Amino acid sequence: MRKISLTGIKPTGDLHIGNYFGAIKPALELAKEYDARYFIADYHALNTMKDSKELSTTIRQVAAGWLACGLDPEKVIFYRQSSIPEVFELTTMLMSFTAKGLMNRAHAYKAAAAENNEKGEDTDSGINMGLFTYPILMAADIIIFDSDIVPVGKDQVQHIEMAQDIAQSVNANYGKQILKVPMAGVQEDSAVIPGLDGRKMSKSYNNVIPLFAPEKQLRKTIMRITTNSQTVEESKNPDESQIYQLYKLFTDSNEQAALALRYREGGMGWGEAKEELFRVVNRCLSPIREKYNEIMADIPSLDKILQQGAEKARPIAAATVNRFRKAVGIDL
Ligand code: ADP
Ligand code: TRP
Repeated sequence: MRKISLTGIKPTGDLHIGNYFGAIKPALELAKEYDARYFIADYHALNTMKDSKELSTTIRQVAAGWLACGLDPEKVIFYRQSSIPEVFELTTMLMSFTAKGLMNRAHAYKAAAAENNEKGEDTDSGINMGLFTYPILMAADIIIFDSDIVPVGKDQVQHIEMAQDIAQSVNANYGKQILKVPMAGVQEDSAVIPGLDGRKMSKSYNNVIPLFAPEKQLRKTIMRITTNSQTVEESKNPDESQIYQLYKLFTDSNEQAALALRYREGGMGWGEAKEELFRVVNRCLSPIREKYNEIMADIPSLDKILQQGAEKARPIAAATVNRFRKAVGIDL
């Protein structure tokens, strides 16, 4: 039997280059060897997105993004999380095996609580239970498809470890393997893609290079990358420049070596380095952008693809839930 690869993306905004290299590209590579289940984590997005129109748009944008990047819905089971009610039944079951202390240690919750404390507010002010229990829903997403590997960026590894803990405590309680224990699949070379300001590229830092921005906007965004005050003449260390880190993602070793030499020789200013980056990013993204625009122009067909994916996914999800219900004694 082929192994299962599964991952999801929260539709909380435009997809960016960090999502592409950290999650989408490795996931599509894995789909060549594994049975893949990739989805839009729309109930995860609801924790923070309370504007219905916006959420309904970003769900389609992220779905179209996956398809534009090359996901083949004939080969990958591709669906919306919200179309699989079994995921929420499994979430409830997993709650009974999840220590509250485990959730207290989750990054997203800890960061929100720390921010409240810093501001002198109540620790849990503004934190909803969806955010607090986020890792349990994510564990259910993963466990329900007996996933072997979960391709994600480094920031998600803690969540996968929590899914492992939860599955293991179920298995330990019943003395046999009822739930598959998943593994994180992090690609070291694309674990953390830097953003415009050198920090991790993230919507929350407002430092992203969007995947599908029109050419003009893409160029403008790349020109915003922060640089140091070195002059044109000065020799520059490519390894200390996020422009070069990004350049490497879009080029082969020949192009990389040629540009690294120009950095070291001096005579190339940051403006020119950014122009070079724009050229290679645009070369790679133009065809994907075109495809994305075509898909977004036909939402009914897109919705149909997601619906068909859900129809394939549900019986698999139901089988896992039934297996688990039987194991716990809720089998009527
Ligand atoms: P954001 O931080 O912009 O909100 P998400 O948390 O929605 O991004 O991430 C979706 C997927 O993309 C996750 O698997 C995450 O690990 C990956 N990812 C996001 N940003 C980066 C990055 N800068 N480098 C590598 N992977 C990333
Ligand atoms: N938490 C992930 C993120 O923020 C999205 C996600 C939800 C996910 N469920 C998942 C990723 C299951 C992998 C597997 O990016």
